[in-house]
Amino acid sequence: MNILSREKIIGRLKEAHHEKNRELFIEADEIRKKHVGDQVHLRGLLEFSNICRKKCTYCGINCYNTTLPRYVMSPEEILEAAGNVVKAGFGTIVLQSGEGALSPGEIEDIILSIKSKFDLAVTLSAGEHPSKVYEMWKKAGADRYLLKIETGMEHLYARIHPDSPLKDRIEMLKNLKNLGYETGTGIMVGLPCQTFESIADDLLLMRELDIDMIGTGPFIPHPDTPLGKELLEGKSTIVPNTMEMALKVVAMTRILMPDINIPSTTAIATVHQEGRKSALNAGANIIMPNMTPAKYRKFYEIYPSKNPEFSNEDPEAIKEKVTNYLKSLGRQAGTGQGGRKRTVR
Ligand code: 5AD
Repeated sequence: MNILSREKIIGRLKEAHHEKNRELFIEADEIRKKHVGDQVHLRGLLEFSNICRKKCTYCGINCYNTTLPRYVMSPEEILEAAGNVVKAGFGTIVLQSGEGALSPGEIEDIILSIKSKFDLAVTLSAGEHPSKVYEMWKKAGADRYLLKIETGMEHLYARIHPDSPLKDRIEMLKNLKNLGYETGTGIMVGLPCQTFESIADDLLLMRELDIDMIGTGPFIPHPDTPLGKELLEGKSTIVPNTMEMALKVVAMTRILMPDINIPSTTAIATVHQEGRKSALNAGANIIMPNMTPAKYRKFYEIYPSKNPEFSNEDPEAIKEKVTNYLKSLGRQAGTGQGGRKRTVR
């Protein structure tokens, strides 16, 4: 089992030579192949509402963004979309929304209906809630929960998440694990003031927490957010918010946690044409095609120009597109629900 020292991780994150970075990606790719194989698990992403009560300063759907039209899908629309996820042949639906869009009871009902009608793993990505709410959703049948830390640098976390402190989120992640969820988290790379050292600490923290899935993307400035404006007005970052930097974090994640699930994120695909493929070749083993109906999708603008590849509500079309794409990379679509299978203890 590969345990790199903090100093080694920092050294690799700071490495400026592309050739050395390529070697890092190859190393991560070999570990990916050995521990999770060539299957790429597909998760149908449903962004069921862009209503949010939070003030996160990087996110385009924060409650201060009054220019954005808000929507919430009806339970019938959500069930129809879940049916499409099944038709596309995916084993998991990811229900994502802003926070407080639907009541805990409404979300419970949706989980119950999906689990009674379809053979799907349900991943929730709906923000911070009291333990009893997470417990209720687990009892209703939810399998997994995504709650990103975004950064573990305390003062930066506080700046970008004005509503609640980092320690609460870490407690929630521990709680989600205790409740039996497969638990996902992750960070953004290239936030203003973020340091290489803090990313190394984030990786070690996520490893310590025994997280089951880790999604990383570059920070993409959104012009209607305070943090986005800072960058667009010329402020530079210490850590570059580039594809290569995000790929290095993906690769280090795989090296440090060989058997977890790692998505090739839409944020990486958005900053570079080769992003999706490059992450799959640097440790990632998951894709999350967007199954949100087109009429809503354009309003789920957490950052601008979210890359449209693999967004299609026609299940047959997306199935074919993804299958051909994976074949071209020498990989195959995953079978079953694609949960974490431990190969290391
Ligand atoms: N840039 C990059 N990623 C972002 N996210 C939200 N806003 C941005 C942004 N401006 C990511 C966060 C969040 C996920 C749903 O999208 O990591 O957890």
